[in-house]
Amino acid sequence: MTKHNFATQFVHAGRKSRYTQGSVNSVIQRASSLVFDTVADKKEATKNRYKGALFYGRRGTLTHFALQDAMCELEGGAGCYLYPCGAAAVTNSILAFVSQGDHVLMTGAAYEPTQDFCNIVLKRMGVETTYYDPLIANGIADLVQPNTKVLFLESPSSLTMEVPDIPTLVNSVRAKNPDIVIMIDNTWAAGVLFPALEYGIDISIQAGTKYLVGHSDAMIGTAVSNARCWDQLRENSYLMGQMVDADTAYVTARGLRTLGIRLKQHEENSIQIARWLAQRPEVKAVYHPALPSCPGHENFKRDFKGSSGLFSFELCKTLSDDELANFLDHFEIFSMAYSWGGFESLILANQPKEIERIRPAIERKLTGTLIRVHIGLEDVEDLLADLEAGLMRIQG
Ligand SMILES: Cc1ncc(COP(=O)(O)O)c(C=O)c1O
Repeated sequence: MTKHNFATQFVHAGRKSRYTQGSVNSVIQRASSLVFDTVADKKEATKNRYKGALFYGRRGTLTHFALQDAMCELEGGAGCYLYPCGAAAVTNSILAFVSQGDHVLMTGAAYEPTQDFCNIVLKRMGVETTYYDPLIANGIADLVQPNTKVLFLESPSSLTMEVPDIPTLVNSVRAKNPDIVIMIDNTWAAGVLFPALEYGIDISIQAGTKYLVGHSDAMIGTAVSNARCWDQLRENSYLMGQMVDADTAYVTARGLRTLGIRLKQHEENSIQIARWLAQRPEVKAVYHPALPSCPGHENFKRDFKGSSGLFSFELCKTLSDDELANFLDHFEIFSMAYSWGGFESLILANQPKEIERIRPAIERKLTGTLIRVHIGLEDVEDLLADLEAGLMRIQG
């Protein structure tokens, strides 16, 4: 079949699936019990329980199967597991492949709860974690141990936005041990701006909470796997009781239909704002993967098909608590929230000391307050005026 462009793929992914039953969008099938008419039907459903047969609610219903088909089509996977949130997708993907005595290679600029999971839960299980600098490139080979089971990537990095050289990381690790399972938190790219599985990565994970849902009103995690890892990922996640309700699966599938156009607008707005910020005297550097000032920009240009709306910028100075409150408390459009990926613009700040604490294995230091923005779908002129007023509040 012809491989269509994004906009078309998002509108049509999974819609030819037998699970939509002729409706344009998914049907909502809420169920725990799924009833069998005959013993033969029950036997058949049991045999095909992980291949799209209606078996028991926890294995999914028509709503889940339609979304899973759509995600596999979009990301080129053999299977997609659905989780109640992004954090569950991250932790269960790792857990599916490690046992006591194993070793995990984790990016030192990972989303903080991913690091906490390694430092607390994996440690308790007797699984060791080594953090690496996301810009380490082929130096990663020296960190591979005989017991390394997982290489975990995130691109761009959380907060500081470095874009790793993924082909080099993947090839260096595979050259040492082809069995290592490579997974990526691919949330920033909405799973498609960076086609992870085409780069030899086994599992592409998303906090679907962000761009897939896109309206800041539901939480879901997805993990799209290649054939090599699918059975183990699926059965382990099932045993851990991972699932999401049908209504959330439905709003996620619905979000997909507008994701092409939303991403395009997030990209356009965010680049325009990033370029404007780069000219401001209060700003030391802008870390937007599409701008040359972002570490790893050359990797972004080579590997990504576009950018989304989340980026950071470093101020020339470290703001005092009062200055920070004065800056953040008075925005008219930007709001403060921990999430991102919805239609609305958001802003958060981190001080250099906080950043240092959550970037193990990374030498590069920040000197100014780091501001992270998610650029939503509002009018750019309005957003610029809001940011300009904010920057005026911290002048001097
Ligand atoms: C990069 C990244 N991965 C994973 C998550 C976790 O997603 P959730 O909040 O859906 O558990 C987040 C949430 O902010 C995130 O930013």
